[in-house]
Amino acid sequence: MRLLSLLPLLVAGLTSVVLAADADSGKVVCYFGSWAVWRPNDGKFDVDDIDPFLCTHLIFGFAGLSNETWQIEVLDPWNELCPDEEGGNNCAYDRFVALKEVNPSLTVLLAVGGWREGSVDYSVMADDAQKRKLFIDSTIALIRKHGFDGLDLDWEYPASRGGIPEDKENFVTLIQEMRQEFDKFSPPLFMSTAMAAGKPVIDAAYDIKPLVDLFDSFHIMNYDYHGAWETHTHHNSPLCGYYLDSGIELYYNVIFTINYYMELGLPREKIVMGIPTYGRCWTLDSLDDTGMLAPAHAPGPAGPYIKIPGTLGFNEICKRFHEMDCTVVRDPALHEPYFYCPSDKIWCGFDDAVSVFEKARYAKNMGLAGFLVWTIDTDDFRPRCYDQPFHLVKSMKEGFSLPADNNLPNCSYTPSTTALPTTTTTTPLPTTTLPPTTTTTPLPTTIPSPNHHHNNTGAYHHHHHSFPDHYSHSYHDSCPNNYRCSNHYPSPNHYFGFFFPHKDCNKYWECINGQAILQLCGPGTLFDEDLMLCNWENQVDTSDCTLWICEVDNTYLPHADCDKYYRCYSGSPHLEQCPNGLYWNQSLSLCDMPSNVDTSNCNPV
Ligand SMILES: *[C@@H]1O[C@H](CO)[C@@H](O)[C@H](O)[C@H]1NC(C)=O
Ligand SMILES: *[C@@H]1O[C@H](CO)[C@@H](O)[C@H](O)[C@H]1NC(C)=O
Ligand SMILES: *[C@@H]1O[C@H](CO)[C@@H](O)[C@H](O)[C@H]1NC(C)=O
Ligand SMILES: *[C@@H]1O[C@H](CO)[C@@H](O)[C@H](O)[C@H]1NC(C)=O
Repeated sequence: MRLLSLLPLLVAGLTSVVLAADADSGKVVCYFGSWAVWRPNDGKFDVDDIDPFLCTHLIFGFAGLSNETWQIEVLDPWNELCPDEEGGNNCAYDRFVALKEVNPSLTVLLAVGGWREGSVDYSVMADDAQKRKLFIDSTIALIRKHGFDGLDLDWEYPASRGGIPEDKENFVTLIQEMRQEFDKFSPPLFMSTAMAAGKPVIDAAYDIKPLVDLFDSFHIMNYDYHGAWETHTHHNSPLCGYYLDSGIELYYNVIFTINYYMELGLPREKIVMGIPTYGRCWTLDSLDDTGMLAPAHAPGPAGPYIKIPGTLGFNEICKRFHEMDCTVVRDPALHEPYFYCPSDKIWCGFDDAVSVFEKARYAKNMGLAGFLVWTIDTDDFRPRCYDQPFHLVKSMKEGFSLPADNNLPNCSYTPSTTALPTTTTTTPLPTTTLPPTTTTTPLPTTIPSPNHHHNNTGAYHHHHHSFPDHYSHSYHDSCPNNYRCSNHYPSPNHYFGFFFPHKDCNKYWECINGQAILQLCGPGTLFDEDLMLCNWENQVDTSDCTLWICEVDNTYLPHADCDKYYRCYSGSPHLEQCPNGLYWNQSLSLCDMPSNVDTSNCNPV
């Protein structure tokens, strides 16, 4: 299928409202991998990059277990500890815990274990009363010393990866003993656990019923269902089973795992569902087959930050979309996107703002306690691709904080009745001088109205996926036309994807949760009414909209904010701000008293 050459457009408006982490938004459990501090350039993520109001629970990964002393051990003392402790320098533990000074309602936990720690040492420790005591006592001492609220135990996994069958029972014993000690504090130390997603591992590892009351919450790792250890493409974290799944793969999806834990006796209110901020990637055998279950016998090339073949963080993925031609596919039988790029034959199943929103809605509608993010350090945290930092986490929070509506995902799919997958090609950005980015503007008091209707029947709904670029801006406005924004989405699961044009060719409206968000197309592009996308300007019919061209020096263009405007020089627009609270009057090309300026088409400050 021939694809359109489109500039990525902005969908960042999804999260223009910063949601405070409050009780209504459920548990927002954010894992931080402290080794992210060693990533280069824009990939580097330190404790100071954490927004203290993003999450309700912050988890520091990872501490380890010494197989000599059987005590918990600090894995990277230079980063984790302070200079007054042996080998310490960066104070990451203390800086992490200090985020509670900014947001006192945060719960901060230390995680012990993780994939790289393996299972063997934990298996040996859990099998021996004396070693268990050494581990428990040292753990309490470490978390108390640094002021953590408790522990997140990430033994991956009892009875697997070198563990023994007795691990299942020993795990319960370990947790009983630990709970007893944790309860001696007031308030009791918090205790949670990361739990496997695959049924065979779950069956071997956990005796659920005796664990239910011992842990404060259960963090289900609903990802890594598929990856380059397999020889065909599939998705990292499919919400639903794929219709061609067979055998053991029938178990490898989010909904199966959640239902299975509930069948085993885990109550909903203790389940925290995992949502990834990364993709799993292959190198395709051939570009002749680029779909789901395509042959792929090698991992995808490593990205610039994480540098692990077969894995790309969302920040690496969105960077890639800015730099090369890739095709993003939404297969109607899959609830998440995947993409491939012909230049290096990479294929990745990943999650974007739309798919994490749907996952969070599922968690909400299932009555779960909340969701966890693995990990916040691979979201677009700087941000480099979207308007706001933590684009994915904010979309998850938005999804979870909306009221439950009993609208569970439709996982049944019949190939005969369905359309072809929809695809979007990403194209590298043109290299022009760009107007500087401004931050999101708060709600204006007046309602701008689009003065031109478009027949948007919903045909484009969900039929394209577009990638944002950080030159675009988004604005939250009251809906200029409630009918258009609220009556047109077919179900509460579908909040996205309605666009309608603005009178200026380079702007458009997007409906998000019944609100119209004024968006700007990236430089060199204009809103294309036929495609409902920002398209290269020479491909757009501009007979119906106002075109602002910046070829003549010292001409002026309006901005979506009333107090700003663009001045053209050197062929490109430069953002200027009116002084002293004045507003821009486009017809007179000057800044004037707000009362003299027509604000029906800009956002008042
Ligand atoms: C203990 O751990 C070290 C590395 O952490 C490993 O090299 C060694 O083999 C382990 N010893 C035993 C007895 O498992
Ligand atoms: C689920 O989707 C399929 C098509 O994919 C459709 O035939 C079916 O009617 C849908 N079921 C519900 C309950 O919406
Ligand atoms: C809107 O578009 C649809 C599909 O293109 C068409 O069937 C319908 O007649 C149009 N409606 C109006 C009012 O133009
Ligand atoms: C510019 O100012 C004039 C005179 O005050 C006013 O009539 C006009 O509406 C203003 N135009 C805009 C776009 O604000």
